[in-house]
Amino acid sequence: MTKKLNIGMLGCGFMGRAHSNAWLQVNHFFSREYQPVLKTCYGRLEDKPKLEEFAKRWGYESIETDWKKVIERDDIDLIDVCVPNIMHRDAVLAAAKAGKMIVCEKPLAMNAREAEEMAEAVEKAGVKNMVSFNYRRVPAITLFKQLVDEGRVGRPFHYRATYNQDYTIGADVPQGGMALWRLDSKVAGSGVTGDLLAHSIDTAEWINGPIQKVTAHAETFIKERKHADTGKVEKVDIDDACMFLAVFANGSLGTFESTRYARGRKNYSSMEMNGENGALFFDLENAHQLKIYRYADPGTGKKIEDHLTGWQEILVTNFEHPYMKNYWVPGCTTGYEHTFINSFADFLASLEGGPAFQPDVRQAVRTQKVCEAVLQSAKSGQWVTIP
Ligand SMILES: NC(=O)c1ccc[n+]([C@@H]2O[C@H](COP(=O)([O-])OP(=O)(O)OC[C@H]3O[C@@H](n4cnc5c(N)ncnc54)[C@H](O)[C@@H]3O)[C@@H](O)[C@H]2O)c1
Repeated sequence: MTKKLNIGMLGCGFMGRAHSNAWLQVNHFFSREYQPVLKTCYGRLEDKPKLEEFAKRWGYESIETDWKKVIERDDIDLIDVCVPNIMHRDAVLAAAKAGKMIVCEKPLAMNAREAEEMAEAVEKAGVKNMVSFNYRRVPAITLFKQLVDEGRVGRPFHYRATYNQDYTIGADVPQGGMALWRLDSKVAGSGVTGDLLAHSIDTAEWINGPIQKVTAHAETFIKERKHADTGKVEKVDIDDACMFLAVFANGSLGTFESTRYARGRKNYSSMEMNGENGALFFDLENAHQLKIYRYADPGTGKKIEDHLTGWQEILVTNFEHPYMKNYWVPGCTTGYEHTFINSFADFLASLEGGPAFQPDVRQAVRTQKVCEAVLQSAKSGQWVTIP
């Protein structure tokens, strides 16, 4: 039996496209009872031509330039929040009050206080919800987690994550406005910490368990930029780069690095874990490969023969690998967009009696708290314990 799931999309930019595509594609690859319907989408009045083109391209039935109207509509079941961070709180609170299901992009909020308020509202309303930390559903990263859970790494000693880009190096890049709102702290909340490290932190805690404490250093390389909306040169308040050390509750030590000034890097997200039995390495520029170093068999504890040890590469395209049986034949790859399709497939499954979706808003509060601790430590120069 097919049940309609009417989507009200907030945002017609990068994530608006990624989510619209995923809602349209999910039933092509996964068998789910719910059939998403792209009902209406919101974009700012100043972005109206873009909004109209977007609605036509993806097949939305109508458009709105007032986001509140999308939430007020009786024919909308789910609000998909793909607008800048400054709008997340109000949109989620209003959607929860209206009893709508919620998908919210990351970072959940501008700060931990807002995030907590959102989690309380969503829990009070009892609405189904998910936060779009989509990298958990890159098949090779899901496999990374599976192998850790199988004991292939064993007792963990180290975890290191990087998330590097280079698109803000130029001093003439403005702040504010469409796409560049990320450089404006009033709209983004923070720089690379909320934008990029939030992903690394979500994945790290999913794989390792909680981070107990952090010490960080952040830098703003270009101190003033012209604002795209006002034309005025204004102070830049966001962190262009941030690095931090972390201690996990499992005793492992973590290093995290993120910058938008890594010349040559476009969306380089990597993670490596080293433990007693072995090690794992992944980077998003080679998204179908997972590297594994096997030192000892987790079942028997027996050491792998010396002449067989060394980094080995798993091409994550087999039917047995996470999500891959839903796509093509072994050897054929999927792409960035499939991380959103996989997320929605799991979310729809959770509505149909499957496992509860993670990360939900409550779990994303945790990531927000770690981000806040990182920013606090970067300011104070002190270690900060995460409550
Ligand atoms: N999961 C991921 O990997 C991922 C990737 C990119 C962005 N995001 C998140 O998705 C959300 C949206 O990001 P995006 O890249 O789609 O943004 P975008 O700039 O491409 O689109 C923003 C949309 O919001 C509307 N808008 C409302 N107020 C605005 C304002 N003050 N400034 C600019 N646009 C405004 C615009 O009309 C537009 O439709 C953000 O929270 C971002 O952090 C997540």
